[in-house]
Amino acid sequence: MNNIQFLSLFSESHRIKQCCPHHRCVVLTDENVGRHYAQPLLEALQSQGLLPQLITVPAGESTKSRQMKAWIEDKLFQSGYGRDTVIIALGGGVITDLAGFVAATYCRGIPVIYIPTSLLAMVDAAIGGKTGINTAYGKNTLGTITHPQAVFIDITLLNTLPETDYNDAFSEIIKHALIYDENYLSLIESTAPRLPQRPSDCLLPLIKRSCEIKSAVVSGDETEQGQRESLNFGHTIGHALERVSDYRLTHGKAVAVGLTVESYLSYQLGLLTLEAFHRIQSLVLTLIDLEGVHLAATELDIVQSLLYDKKRRQQQCRWVLLSSIGQVKVDGAHYAHSVNSLVVKKSIDYLLSCCWRQYP
Ligand SMILES: NC(=O)c1ccc[n+]([C@@H]2O[C@H](COP(=O)([O-])OP(=O)(O)OC[C@H]3O[C@@H](n4cnc5c(N)ncnc54)[C@H](O)[C@@H]3O)[C@@H](O)[C@H]2O)c1
Repeated sequence: MNNIQFLSLFSESHRIKQCCPHHRCVVLTDENVGRHYAQPLLEALQSQGLLPQLITVPAGESTKSRQMKAWIEDKLFQSGYGRDTVIIALGGGVITDLAGFVAATYCRGIPVIYIPTSLLAMVDAAIGGKTGINTAYGKNTLGTITHPQAVFIDITLLNTLPETDYNDAFSEIIKHALIYDENYLSLIESTAPRLPQRPSDCLLPLIKRSCEIKSAVVSGDETEQGQRESLNFGHTIGHALERVSDYRLTHGKAVAVGLTVESYLSYQLGLLTLEAFHRIQSLVLTLIDLEGVHLAATELDIVQSLLYDKKRRQQQCRWVLLSSIGQVKVDGAHYAHSVNSLVVKKSIDYLLSCCWRQYP
């Protein structure tokens, strides 16, 4: 299921060729990534005897649409591509999600290879098999769980990633440590001062460990009936904040605040120590740039936005909670729990007053 390989992309393209037995492949990328890496990748693939065609789409979340999926499919049909074709996704999570979904349904399914180019795609979007697009009814409302044939990660591609996209991805990296591995949190803390310079010797162990953790969680629960829910830690509040900001707040920053609020909630419930909460808050604020984040929202706005949470059951919001750093609370087979609404409100109030307002 999880064939994740670390490589030097342009000098080790023979490893990609092994996944393309019929020589026909289509490279799907976006305009930003394509500008840097499409030509070198095409040349590397051609040097291996492959016949790649390039499809470039606009960058950004709006590309994950029904219209774009249909446009790509039409292009593939018009070029005569059949089941002997491999799609190679070269890009961030938008491209891997879109390419994965196109591949999952084209001719009833053709192989896809992911070459994630953003830090978020390397540690999250490319791992776990979820593909999807957005509709007027919400984000990722159409999609499949289909695994790529392989994920090829070259961390030198991160050199051109814009700073905000780089920083925001640390929310998911910290989340992996919080739900699964306290030693990993210590590793992130010890490398934190050097991470803004993007040194490979710091990034590689983090990306590898995050891939391992996400793979382990997902393989234990393919269809999100249990353990996979733990990946939602920080996301109940995170998604609510994205909604109330009308998606002006980036996902990474919203989740960064969500990690802090939901850790505080775990503390309020007597699960997490105050010391552990402060440790989490401090790392989040060190790595994710919340400067300039200003949300014109009240506690009521946030509580109302929680009504849209996908994990709700019988009108009750369900929360992933930490029982300690590295461990989520598990009750039988349940990884998400109902919490008294007064405690939830208290956590939101506390954080609105002293977490990010302190770092406006
Ligand atoms: N399938 C999953 O399990 C999963 C998990 C998390 C997120 N996602 C999805 O991933 C998407 C977000 O991913 P993202 O943050 O990578 O967004 P993205 O793909 O939009 O990439 C962010 C920006 O960085 C640019 N970029 C990417 N790599 C670059 C590079 N190396 N050099 C220069 N520019 C580069 C892109 O063009 C884009 O402008 C969302 O649609 C989200 O729903 C999916």
